[in-house]
Amino acid sequence: MDGNGRWAGARGLPRNEGHRQGVENVKSIIKAAKEADLSCLTLFAFSAENWNRPRTEVSALMRLLEHYLKEQAKVLREQKIRLRVLGRTHELPSRVAKLLRRTEEATADYTERTLALALNYGSRTEVVDAMKAYAEAVARGEADPASLDWAEASRYLYSAGLPDPDLVIRTSGEHRVSNFLLLQSAYAEYYFSPKYWPDFGPEDFYAALMDYARRERRFGKTGEQIRRAPQPQTV
Ligand code: IPE
Ligand code: MG
Repeated sequence: MDGNGRWAGARGLPRNEGHRQGVENVKSIIKAAKEADLSCLTLFAFSAENWNRPRTEVSALMRLLEHYLKEQAKVLREQKIRLRVLGRTHELPSRVAKLLRRTEEATADYTERTLALALNYGSRTEVVDAMKAYAEAVARGEADPASLDWAEASRYLYSAGLPDPDLVIRTSGEHRVSNFLLLQSAYAEYYFSPKYWPDFGPEDFYAALMDYARRERRFGKTGEQIRRAPQPQTV
């Protein structure tokens, strides 16, 4: 979700107004994802590098997040959407971390739909945290490097148990990945929209899904092989 600040700037509004509008859009895209029957939607809401923004912007973002979680926890439960958080949640303000933990626990049994929020997330810290956890498991005698494969290694990532993304969308015209789900996106399709996040509405989201549906995913095989057999789906 990129472009909140520029959306506001283009209207002569403060950046925080862009973030507020961005949160409104989150709600409509979650609804659109449900209507499109997606099993998992991951939103990159705050990166591990976003702490470097001015303190006032960081605290405004945290307040918005807290407000959003308070308001949406009930909605997620009603809609039977499981919340998962990807990132170093213990470094977030304790009130936010607590709300996240509580909502994750309250929605843990909903298996059909997942909303994953990447918060204080970065792929490199994810790998470092996974390596630490794995080394500790080895030290306890619970894991054996000789038999380590990707299926096991991926269970140490924040995203353990979630499907790999089929489609990654970035808004605001930037053609960068910015440390987002680097390993999980190994076979993902990318879609870049010039629209700022607050303007990226359900119709743009559906256009991205339609674009994705027209692509041929080969997973290392030839086009002929793929067209002869049904495509493997990760979601
Ligand atoms: C995305 O919008 C929201 C967050 C990263 C929290 P930006 O705040 O990055 O907006 P731009 O890139 O400055 O326009
Ligand atoms: Mg940005």
